[in-house]
Amino acid sequence: MVRPSRAFLGVASLAVVATGAMLVADGVQLRERQAARAAALTLGDPALGQGKVAAYGCGACHQIPGVAGATGQVGPSLKGFAGRTYVAGRLSNSPGNVEAWVSHPRRIDPQTAMPELGVTPADARDIAAYLYTLR
Ligand code: HEC
Repeated sequence: MVRPSRAFLGVASLAVVATGAMLVADGVQLRERQAARAAALTLGDPALGQGKVAAYGCGACHQIPGVAGATGQVGPSLKGFAGRTYVAGRLSNSPGNVEAWVSHPRRIDPQTAMPELGVTPADARDIAAYLYTLR
């Protein structure tokens, strides 16, 4: 049996580690690009929005990636929200419409099960920014 040399094994394991590091760096870059795009679209701050989504308790009713404990089943999952065509099946998915829905869902449809949570305009911008990072 031919045994690979120590040098070969050393180079091979370095290559594996380097490839892993590159993949991780790619993932980080992708997330950074998505966050920058979401911020540019909404003029909000996605990192702040992530915390605000948790603070307002949106996760009691929605599954929301990146928000601990957000496993609610009352409303739709917000995974992939950035790619959705409509907000709640009623408004086209634009930053202004997301902010309007999150701030005052019952002004848009008095019958909706989503409650008015008193989300301020600045918080709605940050929340919209976070929702646009969800692919
Ligand atoms: C009491 C439950 C409840 C809470 C709390 C709640 N929602 Fe909702 N949400 C819903 C329901 C139900 C719908 C579906 C509404 C409809 O179609 O009428 C919805 C719809 C949405 C939609 C549209 C989703 C889509 O796929 O079109 C977004 C965005 C959303 N909610 C964001 C939020 C955010 C952000 C918060 C926290 C500030 C929040 N929700 C808090 C129940 C809730």
